Formats: sequence, C-alpha cells, structure tokens
Amino acid sequence: MSRPSDQALARAVELDREDSLAPFRDRFFLPAGKSGTAKRYFCGNSLGLQPRSVADLLRQELDDWARLAVDAHFHGATPWFSYHEVFRESMAAIVGALPGEVVVMNSLTANLHLMMTSFFRPDGPQRKILVEESAFPSDTYAVKSHLRLHGLDPVKDLIVARPRDGESCLRTADLEQLLEERGSEIALVMLPGVQYYTGELFDIGRITSAARKQGCTVGFDLAHAAGNVPLRLHDWGVDFAVWCTYKYLNAGPGAVAGCFVHQRHERRSDLPRLAGWWGNDPESRFRMHLIPDFQPADGADGWQLSNPPVLALAPLRASLGLFQEAGGMEALRSKSIRLTRFFEEQIELLDCPGLEVLTPADPDRRGAQLSIRIGQESEKVFRFLLDKDFVVDYRRPDVIRAAPVPLYNSFQDVLELCRCLGEGMGVVR
Ligand SMILES: Cc1ncc(COP(=O)(O)O)c(C=O)c1O
Repeated sequence: MSRPSDQALARAVELDREDSLAPFRDRFFLPAGKSGTAKRYFCGNSLGLQPRSVADLLRQELDDWARLAVDAHFHGATPWFSYHEVFRESMAAIVGALPGEVVVMNSLTANLHLMMTSFFRPDGPQRKILVEESAFPSDTYAVKSHLRLHGLDPVKDLIVARPRDGESCLRTADLEQLLEERGSEIALVMLPGVQYYTGELFDIGRITSAARKQGCTVGFDLAHAAGNVPLRLHDWGVDFAVWCTYKYLNAGPGAVAGCFVHQRHERRSDLPRLAGWWGNDPESRFRMHLIPDFQPADGADGWQLSNPPVLALAPLRASLGLFQEAGGMEALRSKSIRLTRFFEEQIELLDCPGLEVLTPADPDRRGAQLSIRIGQESEKVFRFLLDKDFVVDYRRPDVIRAAPVPLYNSFQDVLELCRCLGEGMGVVR
C-alpha cells in the first residue's frame, strides 16, 4: 500500500494533537477490523457508534425494573412516569428549540405521520405538498399517503423541486422562486435539513421564511441534520420537524425519534391530532375513564401517544450527555467543518479522473458527510474499501457516502480513507 505523503501525515497528526475533542473517541466502542485494530468508521450518518456509558444506563433501568417493578414509575432512579422529560433541555439544545417544543417518541416516520395529520391542512386551491426529487423514500410514501387520505392525487398534488440540469443540489434561490410562483397552491412544504444522498444542507431559515410568506406550513425531516449541524428551529419559525436519533445522535438501531412543534401551535384547539393517553395533560392522565375527553398536554408533549419506552430511551441519555460534555453543537460543528474540509482537500489531492464530490463545497451548505461520485466500477471501489476495514456506504448508482463525525473521527482516519480510496481507484480500473 502506498503511504500518504509525509507532509500530509504530519499535518493530520498535528491537527489531531490540537483537537480538544479527540479524547471523546475513547468514549465509544469502535468495531474491530480483521487485524484486531479498530475499523475506520465513517457511517455515523447511518448508525452512530455505541457510547461506552450505554450499558450502565440500561443496567440502571433493568435494576429498577427488577427491584421496584411498577413502583419504578415514581420511585426509580429516573422515574419512568416522566422519563421523556429528561430529554427536553438536551434535545432542545441540539435542534435550537424551546424545551417545551420538543419531545422524544415513536420513530421518525411515525412522527412524520402524526405531524402531517395535524399540519397538512389542504384548503381549496392551496392543497399541494412540495417535496424534493430525491426525498428519502419513507418520506415520499408518507407524503403520498396523506394526499390520498385527503382524497387528493399524488401525481397532480405533489410539487417536486429538482436541481438544475447538470447539478446535483438544489439552490435556495430556486426554491424561493418556486415558492413565490406556486406558493398559493402549496399547503405544506416538506423538505430535508440535510439531503441524505448528496449531503446538501438546506437553508432552513430562508426556505421557512419564503414558505410562510405564502401561507404555507413548513416541516423538515432532520434525520441527517440533528446532531450534525447547529439548528435554530424556534427562531427560524419552522412549524414542525422530525428526526431519528440513531445516526449522529448515537442512540442505537431504530432508537426513539425526536419531534418539534413550534410554540405558536402549542395550544391550538383547531388542529386535529391523533391522540393517546401520554399526550394527555399529566395532571389528569391517571383519572383514566373518569375523564374520557382528551385534554392535550402543552407543547410537543401533547402529540405523544404511549408511555415512553424506557429501555429504548436509556441509550439516548448516554449520547446526549456526551454532546453536553463536548460543549454542544457549536464546538462539534467547529471541528466538523475543519474535518470535512480536510477530507475534501485530500480527495482533491488524489486527482483521480472521474471522482466527483456531489456535496456543496461551501461549509454553510453541508454537514459532516461528503458524497463522492466514483463513476465506473464504483461498487468494486466500495468493496475494496470494505476489505481494507473502512466502513463507508454505497448508494446506487455510483456514490460512496462517508461522514467523518467530530465526536469520534480523527484527521488521521480521514487521511487513511483518502489514501485507500486513491489506491482502490488505481487497482480496480
Ligand atoms: C432522511 C431520512 N428520512 C426518513 C428515514 C426513515 O427513518 P425511520 O425508519 O426511523 O422511520 C431515514 C432513515 O434512514 C432517513 O435517512
């Protein structure tokens, strides 16, 4: 294998030495590679690594269950009755919300359905949904199913925003223009915070403001944005947002998802919602059948359905604790910008014909992930990387996605990945 230039290696070593977040790597389990050394893991945009403190937090809940059984609802170390409240402050900090605007519940797609039930209110000619062309399939299915629920036509009533010919990413100005021209037809704008395929970071503030000017409701899928980039959902005036916690938020496979509802909707009685007992005002929740009419709790809590899945939530406490210890999203973002820029520079230095980074070059328009179009023999290049113990992912037809995550990736990881990518490109072609 060819070695990276001495100069590049010295620089990566120096950058890692100066990195005050470097010690956080040891707070995670890294999967072992063939030779027994850790794999170089770049799939935190898909499944974040397990924080080492997860097992203790889980064990605490198992012990409370064993020792106290039903009494742990009120007398456990962290009472289960209000377990979801533990995440209010820390999750609000991740997405830039007021504590009452966020709740952790269900899964991302389930929350998207709950939100669209309340916030997709087609009204006469303003009845369509705006999405982007390469939306994640679960979102597309959910959106189309809501159009059908309202007796609308997923072909005619879906407006699809597309990048310009020859471009991979959507321009904010084009979205603004589309909203200005067709806003009077659009009831709901449903877009990603960070696009899963290209890694493009959408300008949520500008899009929200352009949409609201036209009287559209605005929702965001933040699966690839939460824990990746700083967000200001409250200030931007987003109506609702949903996100998962198993990617950059490291809460484990299929972990419980997040949901944001802007404060201005907190007490709206005109919004229909699918109700369940945990969304009821906690003061009257246990009066049970004595109060058969639903009295929603204030804020996002009022959209909960069921009692919190404590064993599934415990890992999220471990991860959000690490975010706080690391200094929050601003500190992580500062490293992330440098790490991803370094990644991009090293790809440029490879000077491989056919290799193209689809992700915008502007740091304000991307998070951690770079999506690299490989061109010919892309799957073989991907397999080459896997064989050398690099964990990246492959999205058809020819893109490798890799996300250096500031909590556990190093500049040397990035350098090694680029070295191996260059080698792989040489070997398979
Ligand atoms: C952008 C995006 N939206 C939605 C989903 C679906 O999430 P879930 O299966 O947790 O509902 C994913 C899953 O990876 C995703 O990446």
